[in-house]
Amino acid sequence: MEGNRKIILTGDRPTGRLHLGHYVGSLKRRVELQNSGEYDDINILIADDQALTDNADNPGKIRDNIINVVLDYLSVGLDPDKVTICVQSALPALHSLTFYYMNLVTTARVSRNPTVKSEIQMRGFADEGLPVGFFCYPISQAADITAFDATVVPVGEDQLPMIEQTREIVEKFNKTYGDTLVLPKAMIPENETQRRLPGVDGKAKMSKSLGNCIYLSDTPKTVKKQVNGKMFTDPQHLRIEDPGHIEGNVVFAYLDALCTDDHFREYLPDYANLDEMKEHYMRGGLGDGVCKKFLISVLEETLSPIRVNREKWSANIGDVYDILADGINRARKKTDATLARVQRAMRINYFEDRSITGEWEKMLKNPAE
Ligand code: TRP
Repeated sequence: MEGNRKIILTGDRPTGRLHLGHYVGSLKRRVELQNSGEYDDINILIADDQALTDNADNPGKIRDNIINVVLDYLSVGLDPDKVTICVQSALPALHSLTFYYMNLVTTARVSRNPTVKSEIQMRGFADEGLPVGFFCYPISQAADITAFDATVVPVGEDQLPMIEQTREIVEKFNKTYGDTLVLPKAMIPENETQRRLPGVDGKAKMSKSLGNCIYLSDTPKTVKKQVNGKMFTDPQHLRIEDPGHIEGNVVFAYLDALCTDDHFREYLPDYANLDEMKEHYMRGGLGDGVCKKFLISVLEETLSPIRVNREKWSANIGDVYDILADGINRARKKTDATLARVQRAMRINYFEDRSITGEWEKMLKNPAE
């Protein structure tokens, strides 16, 4: 089915507070998409059930982080009047759709999914045994996406195999049962900087277990500690006069992602822009201390309004619950309608109209036919 409305569905697993990597890679973009006016409908799913597929022994972690993630969304400026924020476990249609789609996918196909493959390794499931629920999560993600009739799915690159899998399910479903589901497209971050914000220690990704994150809700003191105490720069840049390297230097990776010429005017007027600063660093004579101090100012300018919003929403937590209840309500109507359409297409809507019971009665009267 061709979607004639432009509909976004995206989501996150609520396994932790959101950090700067999320901000640069997806949250900032979502706010821009929300404000672009180009989309008819924008939905953000907190995928708690998906998070449980590899956290079955720790539902408390998922429970706590649902509210953390909602607060992070609202704090960065996602506007509940413009986007629907909802929770996966409150949308039973998603589970029903998953169950039908599971019949359209082979285990061999899911086994080939490169993201699932590497996650199986990372989580030790290769040795311990692989939970069926975890193995099936790409199929449940296809249910998430199709239930909203999404045409566009903004995600990180690692999620491309899920969108590919979703497209295959849509094609298979439509071929088998008639044109019913909308074929979605992935939308990935525009540039390398957005795609990969390294951890403060220079490791490829921010991750809670490595302790190399800067969270949106971190205090100024913690941010300063992460930058001054842990941030990886250039190990060959020993004396200020030595030429420095930009490549692999986390301070510059973060500046690439966040700083503007205005930041230079305000905090480091020696340079007009980042290119000039980089040039000086590479030439030699610019110390890491100055660079880090500037980065901390840039980070604070980014994070302090987010922190203020978080405090405001936390102080009015009842409003946050209302926003979630309203989002869930809207999402439930939408996803229930898709499930009804799917069951109709499959003709398993036995009691919805008289057509199937009518056929039964005809069959019972003419058993030979
Ligand atoms: N798997 C996604 C992630 O880990 C989260 C997610 C769940 C999602 N359902 C989705 C993303 C639907 C996009 C669309 O980031």
